[in-house]
Amino acid sequence: MLGGKKVVLGVTGSIAAYKAADIAGQLVRHGVEVHVVMTRAAREFISALTLETITGNPVNTEMFSGRPGAGTLAHLDLARMADLLLVAPATANVIGKVAAGLADDLLSTLVLAFRGPVLFCPAMNPGMYGNPLVQRNIEALRAAGYHFCGPETGRVACGEEGRGRLAGVEAILDRVRALVSTERDLDGSTVLVTAGPTREPLDPVRYLTNRSSGRMGYAVARAARDRGARVVLVSGPTVLPAPDGVELIPVVTAAEMAAAVKRYFPESDVLVMAAAVADYRPATVAQEKMKKGVGRLTLELVPNEDILSYAGRTKRPGQVVVGFAAETGDPRTHALEKARRKGADLMVGNDITLPGAGFDVETNEVVLVFPDGRTVPLPRMDKYQLACRLLDEIRIIRGEVSGA
Ligand code: CTP
Repeated sequence: MLGGKKVVLGVTGSIAAYKAADIAGQLVRHGVEVHVVMTRAAREFISALTLETITGNPVNTEMFSGRPGAGTLAHLDLARMADLLLVAPATANVIGKVAAGLADDLLSTLVLAFRGPVLFCPAMNPGMYGNPLVQRNIEALRAAGYHFCGPETGRVACGEEGRGRLAGVEAILDRVRALVSTERDLDGSTVLVTAGPTREPLDPVRYLTNRSSGRMGYAVARAARDRGARVVLVSGPTVLPAPDGVELIPVVTAAEMAAAVKRYFPESDVLVMAAAVADYRPATVAQEKMKKGVGRLTLELVPNEDILSYAGRTKRPGQVVVGFAAETGDPRTHALEKARRKGADLMVGNDITLPGAGFDVETNEVVLVFPDGRTVPLPRMDKYQLACRLLDEIRIIRGEVSGA
């Protein structure tokens, strides 16, 4: 969780510096105490006042404030209090300076003095990023334990196409979350998660699928990773970026998902089946594109294997299996019936017709349903928060903590 953490945000002189306002704003929104350090060049691109207003804290720009008794040790104070130092955007210049061990302004001094995790988010012209000298510096920093997020490929501010765009704010936040998380209560566990829809092909251009976005499963994967688990994420087709530090197994069909789950389930402590697995697939897949005929077309579908039932049937003592039941209307009865029929230790039921609980939204509102009939309705919350709540529940089922 990000709430209560302290982050020093170093902003350097890239045209992407204006995006630091968004990054700072998102961090603050997640309850992070943000202290900004700007280089002189950064102040050409974005005003300190903007970042001061967003963070509610004075922006640090100089090594020596000039005010008697105040700020002369700012770099040491900031280095002592921060959980993470985030340099976003990071220019080739700051990367080069730190790689060379130079400290000629407040930010570079702070980076060298800081003992915690440092995350660089490079943003620069693609030509610069591709320069072997810049690459060498990045490699040197990586080897020394510094972290990097991005850059992404796309159109950069100067109009060129290529790799050099600042990583998206969501990706940056996700890395920050992973780096500051100190709760390692899943250390040593393997968590297998499925996410997204499956696609069942009809012919080379058409398929049957559903509206699952994969967000819930990806949130479970990120939360389990942040708490120290080894995470295997079996994902149907989604548009979501691959979470760092997670073994991603991309699949397309339900049969491929079943095979991947069977491969990893024996070595897993927990299976969370957040995927919306297609219940049926076309009986035959046409090799050539199907041609339109006259009148109606009837498709013959055959059932797919139920992966959750397989896991429920074959689980060893101590393995926990969690399923999801997305229903239209009160999910309790269906979720309980599914928990019992499929051998799940917990079903997460939701009514997809509620606002903020369906597909493609960042929040979910669910009821936990246990096979003994116990139900626990939860308020609407962010999917990552819900993922943390589910992991707490899984630890209780495993007997690692008491549920009192
Ligand atoms: N599931 C599965 N394999 C399938 C279908 C579903 O593992 N072939 C899992 C889902 O990942 C989910 C749970 O079973 O965790 C419930 O899925 P759902 O589609 O609601 O269950 P069904 O038994 O298919 O019920 P319904 O008739 O409502 O579709």
